[in-house]
Amino acid sequence: MRTFKTISKTLVSAALATSVLAITPAVADSNEDAIKARQGFYSMISANFGGLVAMAKGEVDYDAKMAKTYADNLEALTKLNTGIYWIPGTDNEAYAGKTRAKPELWAADSKAFEYGGALGGAIAELAGVAGDGLDALRPMIGKVGGTCQQCHKAYRARSF
Ligand code: HEC
Repeated sequence: MRTFKTISKTLVSAALATSVLAITPAVADSNEDAIKARQGFYSMISANFGGLVAMAKGEVDYDAKMAKTYADNLEALTKLNTGIYWIPGTDNEAYAGKTRAKPELWAADSKAFEYGGALGGAIAELAGVAGDGLDALRPMIGKVGGTCQQCHKAYRARSF
């Protein structure tokens, strides 16, 4: 006869088995996970930067508190060490349709690290003035945007 204890034990192990199964596909290919992670990182960058761009363009009213929040989020994001997601061999030739990162990003003469540093520097400057009004914000949008473009032009393919 099954006691309550055995039944609940069975339920617990069934639940564990289900959750392990649910996790397994996500870790099946760590390279693909890394690709998704770096894309997620840039989606977060874009979501916050986009809010500031909309204010700079006058599409939404400037709001000092919101502007500062977006800029602080950006600054926090640039403090993450995302280097671990740029695994050599995870370029758009090996992972066609999954990534837009060009193989040149990993070449010996790659400037990706430098360009990433330029992004971090520009964002730190942006965060310093984002809450000080539209006139202070606008020039920094151009500066940060330039660092995005510089890197995309060199290392991000136009399409998947
Ligand atoms: C150091 C280089 C570099 C800088 C700087 C950079 N990016 Fe990117 N970005 C990339 C690469 C490479 C990819 C492609 C990643 C992939 O598909 O694996 C990418 C992808 C993206 C994506 C697509 C994410 C997805 O889901 O596929 C967006 C959006 C994006 N970047 C926005 C930005 C914005 C906005 C900035 C500036 C505020 C920026 N990036 C700065 C290199 C850079």
